[in-house]
Amino acid sequence: VIILGKDEKNVQSALDELKNENASSVICDLRNSKDIENTSENLKNVDILINCAGIIGYYNLEDHPKEDIQAQIEVNLLGTIYMTQAILPTMKKQNSGTIINVSSTTGLHGKPQESVYAASKFGVRGFTEALQEELKEQESAVRVLGFYPGGMNTKLFVKGGVDKDTSSFMDPEEIARIVVFMLEHPDSIKMDQVVVNRNKGV
Ligand SMILES: NC(=O)c1ccc[n+]([C@@H]2O[C@H](COP(=O)([O-])OP(=O)(O)OC[C@H]3O[C@@H](n4cnc5c(N)ncnc54)[C@H](OP(=O)(O)O)[C@@H]3O)[C@@H](O)[C@H]2O)c1
Repeated sequence: VIILGKDEKNVQSALDELKNENASSVICDLRNSKDIENTSENLKNVDILINCAGIIGYYNLEDHPKEDIQAQIEVNLLGTIYMTQAILPTMKKQNSGTIINVSSTTGLHGKPQESVYAASKFGVRGFTEALQEELKEQESAVRVLGFYPGGMNTKLFVKGGVDKDTSSFMDPEEIARIVVFMLEHPDSIKMDQVVVNRNKGV
């Protein structure tokens, strides 16, 4: 397992939590293409790539600062595209591997104050679906799966300066179990996209 992150302290604490001698880490800011290149350079085999990094910000479009628009597109969309482009040749050489692109239910339906976030997550969806077709055409065994979760109880909103009570949102540990299931499903089952929503009746 290689944990990739931009913040050394956060990456180290994730590594400490894993307590696994096979786990390692790489400091990589997805907004920096050189970092992405360096990350993929020495990898000989890659079984799984999870494109999960993301940022959010809530703004009416006319109030949305340009630097935040750029940051959301760069991390959420370009980060996913460039990281996939960097890792795909290794998976193709092996003729195996699974890539999971974490979009959002906002990648399926637009929401107010989320026009740019939605643009980035719809972009991830289009990228994922087109790449699925491309790999099918090439008869490659590499799988690319799209994941579309609804609200989860993480620090995403606080970090993005969004004041939102997320205490009733889905538990990220439960969601992680679904991701593991997606990774373990046999090739005989087609699971190109998985949508997970909070059951508001519970
Ligand atoms: N939470 C939700 O309700 C929700 C719903 C649907 C989809 N999602 C998506 O789920 C994914 C995970 O989000 P989360 O909710 O778990 O939030 P999170 O805890 O903030 O995780 C996002 C991760 O992305 C990393 N990251 C941000 N900018 C980066 C950069 N430039 N380079 C490298 N890494 C960077 C963050 O690193 P730091 O720890 O250093 O900040 C953090 O580890 C995101 O793609 C998000 O859009 C979330």
